[in-house]
Amino acid sequence: MKRSMIAGIGMYVPKNVITNNDLTRYMDTSDEWIQERTGIQERRYADREGETTTTMGIAAATMAIENAGLQPTDIDFIIFATLSPDYYFPGCGVLVQRELKMREIGALDIRNQCSGFVYAISVADQFIKTGMYKNILVIGSEKHSFGLDMSTRGRNVSVIFGDGAGAVVLKATDSDRGIMSTHLHSDGESAEILAMYNPGTHANRWGNYADFNDAEIADMFMSHQMVDNAQLFPNMDGQAVFKKAVVKFPEVIGEALAANGLQPADIDMLVPHQANLRISQMVQKMLKLPDEKVYNNIQRYGNTTAASVPLALYEAWNEGKIKEGDIVCLAAFGSGFTWASALIRW
Ligand code: UT7
Repeated sequence: MKRSMIAGIGMYVPKNVITNNDLTRYMDTSDEWIQERTGIQERRYADREGETTTTMGIAAATMAIENAGLQPTDIDFIIFATLSPDYYFPGCGVLVQRELKMREIGALDIRNQCSGFVYAISVADQFIKTGMYKNILVIGSEKHSFGLDMSTRGRNVSVIFGDGAGAVVLKATDSDRGIMSTHLHSDGESAEILAMYNPGTHANRWGNYADFNDAEIADMFMSHQMVDNAQLFPNMDGQAVFKKAVVKFPEVIGEALAANGLQPADIDMLVPHQANLRISQMVQKMLKLPDEKVYNNIQRYGNTTAASVPLALYEAWNEGKIKEGDIVCLAAFGSGFTWASALIRW
């Protein structure tokens, strides 16, 4: 059976650097609090002149395709992971197909938030293993800056998120390099504790718009009550997410290792979703991994959700910290809850 290997990788972050001190202009927070609780020093925000989740994703994708020695027309399938799409629908995948002038290939958007990229890698891997596709473009991209509550009310969420994109090209190979296994999980019991409820069809939306006038319909989509109650912004019970994350990260990494008869010491590079530096450090400690085997860049980019794993993977690779034959572990946990891991022989 074919395997899928990472043939090309790319990243993009906006030029616009926002430091912790910059955020103190909008909300009651401090550089000290943010660094101590999250490890974040700065993040990037998209510029105001047309930079979107898709344009950032395309920049990362272009680099990944070039890196793989391919042309956009060589790609057989697109998978785009994001929670901040340009449009409510259609997804960003079709916009990539259009802008890169690709063939009329399939395009799939994945909405799995922080674990979206690892889920996307897993989906791509299945298509390649079955022989259906040879070259798959996988993108993770987010423009969080558009949808954050920048007042003190939203500070527990807003200080941690940033914008950016990462992408890989997965390619069919007969060698023993590439993805060894992927492991996907969910538990919807706590779906609402890290969620953005609107726009959505949950209980505050009701039926037939013909029964309502324009003002009433507008109110259903974006009412003052929604703004006042911060219902148009992400909500998070950070402590509850933190507690679950530090259990599920090691669990799903252990599952990937066990599936391949390996031990934590066999990992050459762990690339965890960049949720909080303290989470990565606790996971590192539980697995007894030395500093050089865990890659973190949350200090510079904050939490970029679906983009965080490919951004960190790109930088680890670009800095020469991942070499051919290395065992690389990707792991993510986030909203849903959903969590996932992928083990790769580089
Ligand atoms: O990738 C998606 C998954 N998300 C995560 O993995 C996030 C996991 N959770 C976390 O990273 C942390 O829970 C946070 C960084 C979000 C929050 O850190 P914490 O240590 O759990 O703080 P907390 O929510 O318990 O809040 C402690 C205090 C509170 O004040 P009082 O009640 O003790 O007076 C907060 O109001 O810190 C206050 N606070 C802030 N103060 C300054 C909350 N946010 C801020 C802020 N600046 N930005």
